[in-house]
Amino acid sequence: MSILHISASPQQAGSHSRELGRHLVERLKSAIDLPVVVRDLAETPPPFPCASFVQASLSASTRSFANKSDALTVSEHLIAEVEQASAIIIDMPMHNFTVPAAFKAWIDMVVRPERTFRPTSSGKIGLLEERPVALIIACGGLFSGGAASQPDFLTPYVTRIFQTIGLGDVTSIRLEGTARAPEFVAKAKAQAKAELDKIAIRFETILLSELSHSAPRHERSFD
Ligand SMILES: Cc1cc2nc3c(=O)[nH]c(=O)nc-3n(C[C@H](O)[C@H](O)[C@H](O)COP(=O)(O)O)c2cc1C
Repeated sequence: MSILHISASPQQAGSHSRELGRHLVERLKSAIDLPVVVRDLAETPPPFPCASFVQASLSASTRSFANKSDALTVSEHLIAEVEQASAIIIDMPMHNFTVPAAFKAWIDMVVRPERTFRPTSSGKIGLLEERPVALIIACGGLFSGGAASQPDFLTPYVTRIFQTIGLGDVTSIRLEGTARAPEFVAKAKAQAKAELDKIAIRFETILLSELSHSAPRHERSFD
């Protein structure tokens, strides 16, 4: 069992989303000391899909077999991190109303036909086992109230794409207005951390239940 912690802010020190992600990871670890696998997408961005990746991921001979093609090595590694995680914590900034490009590249490596979802005539069916996902977003602007001036395409998109691969339990939390005065940000962050503490309690219950009742998730390595 492990916790997969994915971060995508280009900023390290001073990143609001990373601070909130760390808060949730630390709360969880104080209750259950699980190993944490860190996937920093800003530090090591996944590649964009290239021609050989597209061919391998769509070819009937390679698409369903783990690590069969060299073009799928990165994809298989990132999928294995998801498969081995009992809970996933993602923190990222909003970039232009949606996910940062590095996180979109991660999605393109992980969401693969006949590997993590099956296309059928009645829609896509997720092939991964359910596990809870926490989605933490930091945004410079606001989405509600009189000063709100932008849509949020990030939350519905990420929720839907995780559902596509079988992960339907996504809890999201948005820290709004990071571009505003420090007092505003401090208050919003304190509220966000209080919400994260509640999320931690729910995740703990799920993880403790997995620890006590079920067999550990399938251990696989592609290194
Ligand atoms: C390229 C870029 C695009 C951004 N687009 C948005 C946006 O659409 N909406 C918004 O509220 N903030 C936007 N921001 C502001 C960031 O979301 C905000 O600064 C956030 O706090 C950054 O996350 P971090 O503090 O974890 O680094 C953008 C910032 C950058 C650099």
